[in-house]
Amino acid sequence: MAELTKIVIPVAGLGTRVLPASKVIPKEMLTVVDKPVIQYVIEEAVAAGFSEIILVTHPSKKSIEKHFERQAELEATLEAKGKIAQLESVCDILPADVTIATVFQDEPLGLGHAVLCAAPLVGNDDFAVSLPDVLIFHPDGDHALDLRNIVTAFKQNQAAQIMVEAVPDEQVSNYGIVDCGGTEFHPGESHDVLSMVEKPALGSAPSNQSIIGRYVLPARTMTLLKHTRPGAGGEIQLTDAINALIAELPVQANSMQGRTYDCGSKLGYLIANIKYGLEHPEIGAGLAAWLRQQAF
Ligand code: G1P
Repeated sequence: MAELTKIVIPVAGLGTRVLPASKVIPKEMLTVVDKPVIQYVIEEAVAAGFSEIILVTHPSKKSIEKHFERQAELEATLEAKGKIAQLESVCDILPADVTIATVFQDEPLGLGHAVLCAAPLVGNDDFAVSLPDVLIFHPDGDHALDLRNIVTAFKQNQAAQIMVEAVPDEQVSNYGIVDCGGTEFHPGESHDVLSMVEKPALGSAPSNQSIIGRYVLPARTMTLLKHTRPGAGGEIQLTDAINALIAELPVQANSMQGRTYDCGSKLGYLIANIKYGLEHPEIGAGLAAWLRQQAF
C-alpha cells in the first residue's frame, strides 16, 4: 500500500453560520485564542503524519494560504527587535518537508464536490479528508491522537475510516449518521458500517453516531464521487459517495477519544475560545480567575 501522505481540507465554504464575522475574513482564519482555526487543523494533520496538505479553496480566500507563507519583512523586524518568541511563532508553523497545495472550488456544490476538486492532486493515492470547522481536543495535549488512530486502523484493517461521536437526538439531523447495526461503540475502536445517511430526520436516523469530519479513504472514493448525484440539500455529498463505497470495500466508523469543538457556529466558536483559552499557558490562569469571579 502506498504511503498515506495526502490530506484534503475543504475551505471554500461561505461561513454563513458565523456572518458577519466571515464577510471579509474567511471563517477558517478566525482566531481561537491566538491562532486561526485552520492552523490548529493543519497542525493536527501534520502531527498525524500527513505531509501533503491540499486546500480546496476559493479565490476570495487567499489569506488562508498567505498565513502559511514566510513573511521576510515581518521576520526581519521581529529579529531586529529581539522578539524571538514571536519570531518563532510566525516562522515555525510548518516543518520544511510539509507542502500546501491549493485547488479552487468555484461553485458551492457541496462537500463531495469540494473533495472531487482535489482529484487531480490526489491522483490514484489513498487520502484523508479533514473538515476545518471542527477542532479536536485531547486532555493530554496530543490533539492528533484520533487522526493518527484512524490512519493506523485504515492500514491494519484495510478499511476506510470515518471518525464518529455520539450526539444528542435533537442534533442528529445536522450531521452524516452511520448505521453499524446497533454495535456498541467504545472510544478508539472501529466497527463495520452497514450504511450511512446525510442529515436524516430524527425518526429515520439509524443511530446517533455522527460523522465529525475526519476521514481516511481509499483512492476509489474519487471515482465514486464523480458519479455521485446531488443528495441532501441539493448538494453532492461525500456521505453518499462513501455509502456507495460500502458495496465494494470495507468501511468502518471509528469512535473518537477526544472532544470536538465546532468553530463553524457562533456558540461553538465562543466555547472553543474559552476551552483553548483555559488551556493556554500564557492566559489560562487569568481567564480561569476571571470566569470564577462572574456570577453565573
Ligand atoms: C458535513 C458532512 C456531514 C458531517 C459534518 C460534520 O456537513 O456532510 O456528514 O457530519 O460535515 O461537521 P456540513 O456541516 O458541511 O453541512
